[in-house]
Amino acid sequence: MRRMNKTSAKKIILLLCLFSTLQTMAQDTGNALAATPPMGWNSWNFFEEKIDETILKQTADAMAQNGMLAAGYNYIVIDDHWVGGRDRKNKLFPDPVRFPGGMRALADYVHSRGLKLGIYSDAATLTCGGVTGSYGFEELDAKTFAEWGIDYLKYDYCNAPDDVTTAFSRYKKMGDALKNSGRPIVYSICEWGQRKPWLWARAAGGQLWRTTWDSRDVWQSHDKDLTGVMEIFDQQDGLQQYAGPGGWNDPDLLMVGLYGKGSSSSVDGRFKGCNTTEYRSHFALWCMLAAPLMVNSDLRNIEPVTLALLTNRDLIAIDQDGLGRQGHIVYKKDSIEVLAKELDKGEIALCVLNRSAQPVTLSIDVPGQLGIRAPFGRIKDIFGGAATKYNGRIKCSLDVHDTRVYRLSL
Ligand code: GLA
Repeated sequence: MRRMNKTSAKKIILLLCLFSTLQTMAQDTGNALAATPPMGWNSWNFFEEKIDETILKQTADAMAQNGMLAAGYNYIVIDDHWVGGRDRKNKLFPDPVRFPGGMRALADYVHSRGLKLGIYSDAATLTCGGVTGSYGFEELDAKTFAEWGIDYLKYDYCNAPDDVTTAFSRYKKMGDALKNSGRPIVYSICEWGQRKPWLWARAAGGQLWRTTWDSRDVWQSHDKDLTGVMEIFDQQDGLQQYAGPGGWNDPDLLMVGLYGKGSSSSVDGRFKGCNTTEYRSHFALWCMLAAPLMVNSDLRNIEPVTLALLTNRDLIAIDQDGLGRQGHIVYKKDSIEVLAKELDKGEIALCVLNRSAQPVTLSIDVPGQLGIRAPFGRIKDIFGGAATKYNGRIKCSLDVHDTRVYRLSL
């Protein structure tokens, strides 16, 4: 029999993905895993390899007490560097010095605070940080995670082959193992958008998939090898059709509140971090994009301005809206961009972004310039107070790199 060539094999995989994606989308109901974008905290950018169980417990306490859990942040995700190795039966164990109590006890602690625990592994024998990964042990590791009470897995792709066929099969292997583990575990696919995961990640069992390389803590890097907030934002354009309940484009972790304190996100101090206005825009844009909201800063010492932003109920409601639409650009002129996100009950969120290094004052004719003609009755300026009567216009003054977000209702 003639051997199938690589292109035919790719086509068959893509067709299978499409079929399985349509099936999954059809099955997704309000009860599905990640019916709305996951929200929580991830250890990576602030702590990197210095993560330990004390920090995680203190973070759980902080989230339960500071209003973040009440606002919807319910996952604590331990990123890379937790693994100690495999025991004689090949079962993973955590680093005994930094996790002396073990993962089950940590999960119990996190659960007792009303939160869920996430963990990290990699589809190769070594993770990005060089500790043991899950390749070849997917079933065992998924069962171990379930036994520990893990609720979320971020699955990275360092040290794995480049081609999409292998990536799909490695991700599906773990996706199937998680499904068979006996515990609902949200599956976060992290191959950095390099193999268009929005086309196949749902079919591999994923509920979210990274769309870009790692975010850096800078508004715009102007460096093709480093993705700042604006570079990442630009790469989401056109991906809106792939997002919806049970499957989300993931434009990476929130830089909000880091102020240059992470080492890889600041590229060892080269970037000093965004300013408060830029973090506000970053957060507003991620909410417009229906992005997973994973905070990275040290919650044990969070600045009041950062906490107030991260717990802004109106912005979170836009991100978590049940319709599950990803906002997209409806207007671009000079340095001004406007995004629209359709919301449940015929409402809509609009976000005006000023990318320039100069402040601007604007008056936008919503039906005329944005083509949005629904007969809305009220408009609420999310950063500006109570709802007022809607007259078809948005007038605003925007600082450098600033945004305004509006919610229009019938
Ligand atoms: C990759 C991922 C990051 C983080 C690190 C950990 O770079 O993209 O989000 O998980 O690995 O080593």
